[in-house]
Amino acid sequence: MEQEVKRISDSMIEHIYQVRPEHLNAAGRLFGGQLMEWIDEIAGLVGMRHSNGNITTASVDNLRFIRGAYQNDLIVLMAKVTYVGNTSMEIRVDTYVEDFQGTRKPINRAYLTLVAVDSNDVPRKVPTILLETEGEKAEWEAAKRRKELRIQRQKEGF
Ligand SMILES: CC(C)(COP(=O)(O)OP(=O)(O)OC[C@H]1O[C@@H](n2cnc3c(N)ncnc32)[C@H](O)[C@@H]1OP(=O)(O)O)[C@@H](O)C(=O)NCCC(=O)NCCS
Repeated sequence: MEQEVKRISDSMIEHIYQVRPEHLNAAGRLFGGQLMEWIDEIAGLVGMRHSNGNITTASVDNLRFIRGAYQNDLIVLMAKVTYVGNTSMEIRVDTYVEDFQGTRKPINRAYLTLVAVDSNDVPRKVPTILLETEGEKAEWEAAKRRKELRIQRQKEGF
């Protein structure tokens, strides 16, 4: 059977939250665990849309906290597929704080590897992606290097 081909734009998602009191840690900043939940959730939704079914998170890396966020801040998450293997997908999630003029400052970038699974949780094949821009091609090449690093880290027991 011919492999399905999808565009990155077919599954990408942008979502906005406002930081509320229940999202803060004891120091009054956005709790990192809350942001990690939002990141995992949006990446999962992108993975489901791209793979037309269920997914599971295999790994999260490069979860880099660049700056904090505070009560009432608007938090924008943008998530898209950057690379697909046979059954796995790499999803990049960029998080920003947006002010009322619409200016965005990055606060986090994460790369998640999701695996598409069937009803028995067995990995299943995913559609490939159509790379339409130079930026998408460069991201694909960078993702291949990240995948090699992940395999290397796994071999070394990190
Ligand atoms: C992710 C999981 C389905 C992979 O199963 P597996 O038996 O290792 O499957 P395979 O060895 O056939 O690997 C399947 C794909 O996952 C990738 N993969 C497996 N472990 C990985 C890891 N730790 N990091 C990144 N990718 C990984 C493989 O590279 C492969 O990709 P490809 O098909 O695109 O080449 C399995 O490890 C699992 O269920 N883990 C628990 C996931 C979970 O519960 N997540 C929620 C956390 S609370």
